[in-house]
Amino acid sequence: MEESAGTAESSSRASRPYDLLIYGATGFTGELVSRYAVEHARTAGVRVAVAGRNHHKLEGLRDKLGAADLPCLVARTEGDASTELESVVRQARVVINCAGPFALCGEPVVRACIAAGADYLDVSGEPSYLARLGIGDDVERNEIARAAREAGVLVVPACGYDSVPADLGTLFVLQLLQQRYREHCRAKAGGAAAAVARLFASVECYMHFEGGVSLSRGSLEGVSSGTFFTLLESMSHQREYQAWKRGRAAQRREMASSSLSSAERPDRSRPRLHWEHSRGIHGVALPFASSDPLVVLTTRNTFKGEAEAQAELTSYAHYLLMDSVGACARLVYHALSVVALARLGSWGRSRLERWKPSGYGPPESVRPSISSDVHFFGEALGADPADNTRQVRVHVHCVCKTCEMYEATAVLVVESALCVLRNRDRLPYTGGTYTCGAAMGALLLPQLQELAGTRSPAPVRFEQVEAVVEPIEPSTE
Ligand SMILES: NC(=O)c1ccc[n+]([C@@H]2O[C@H](COP(=O)([O-])OP(=O)(O)OC[C@H]3O[C@@H](n4cnc5c(N)ncnc54)[C@H](OP(=O)(O)O)[C@@H]3O)[C@@H](O)[C@H]2O)c1
Repeated sequence: MEESAGTAESSSRASRPYDLLIYGATGFTGELVSRYAVEHARTAGVRVAVAGRNHHKLEGLRDKLGAADLPCLVARTEGDASTELESVVRQARVVINCAGPFALCGEPVVRACIAAGADYLDVSGEPSYLARLGIGDDVERNEIARAAREAGVLVVPACGYDSVPADLGTLFVLQLLQQRYREHCRAKAGGAAAAVARLFASVECYMHFEGGVSLSRGSLEGVSSGTFFTLLESMSHQREYQAWKRGRAAQRREMASSSLSSAERPDRSRPRLHWEHSRGIHGVALPFASSDPLVVLTTRNTFKGEAEAQAELTSYAHYLLMDSVGACARLVYHALSVVALARLGSWGRSRLERWKPSGYGPPESVRPSISSDVHFFGEALGADPADNTRQVRVHVHCVCKTCEMYEATAVLVVESALCVLRNRDRLPYTGGTYTCGAAMGALLLPQLQELAGTRSPAPVRFEQVEAVVEPIEPSTE
């Protein structure tokens, strides 16, 4: 693959036999990721290899993909496998890890990549695992983030459906808010360039799934066994994660830009659980404990005060939009039944494994009927260019439309890896643990938009639905 401006580091990486290695390729998600990489990256000259712990399964995967010459590498993560794993990942420039639950088998792959000088991306979505890698943490306090920085290796978890739509969607909204405000100021100045202050914005995100077996209808049928057991596994790390969050409370308060006056701070205080029926979306909004808020806030903290082309985020709220109260009740009932079975020991576990056998995921026949719309509402207040004593409210609604969640994950993580491969020397950071938005957002967003323009239907597309700039009455306070 072509290398941009060559540093010694990038040319040493370029001499490796593979550009892209997919570890955990034999699982449900790993297979989708491998298929996308073979069909869309390998055909464009990217040297792809797959890896996992089971040679026979890898050969089976190669047959399914119809790629008899696809290199298959074997390495375990358990026990004393670190040398074996390191020598496998050393053969690639970028590694995508799809082996989960990440809380159990993610860290050995990350450490092997750091030791071998291979950039690491994964499809994790467990906040406790992201925190362990250093997301949302001060680099000096996190051993993995520090080691990655010293080794010049990028560690970028959560590059799948968790949390790229939320991360890049927020970036998209913040850019649009600033851009629409700038256009408004320019129009008021009769077309002349006007000095425009940076806006402070609040963003709300509503994830909605379409389709009979979708989460928004209260169904868990569209959830893969890997995601399912990962969610159960991550429950056992909740206490540790909550303690970590409490320890970072001061950092989060600082993020809220407490120096802002109430006139500058947009008001977006909705109840956590609410009925949403305006602004073009309808349903019950459930606060959703995914990795998205942690990732979004971490990205914004990385850019705090730096990027003039986008508004600065002061608050972020994240919801799952349910179709009805009945759908909400169904989801709660399913979730409670699963938790109860998981607590019943081996009998309960075997019932769950019968329901979601290893490798299960929504079948190919069902996937085209599932899609998702992730809505973003951004709002900011700025000085009215026509009268400095008054303010204008800038409001933007945009949506990230994706194909089925697991297929979208495959597109997003492989496109992220391609973004690293094509732009390694242009990325803002050379090593350390970063969110996808911080590591490559400014390049990945236009790359995905360009891709959307070439495929029908587009697997992932960010669109503006509405943008309004309106004067507001001066405060009487
Ligand atoms: N957040 C997102 O957007 C998103 C989307 C999709 C998936 N995921 C995550 O991706 C992970 C995989 O999901 P899935 O549905 O693909 O699960 P899956 O079908 O059960 O596949 C799991 C994969 O991990 C491998 N594996 C498991 N334990 C391992 C270990 N100790 N050492 C090495 N390899 C190991 C398995 O290898 P064998 O085949 O040899 O058993 C298999 O390749 C889950 O954690 C899931 O939550 C996240």
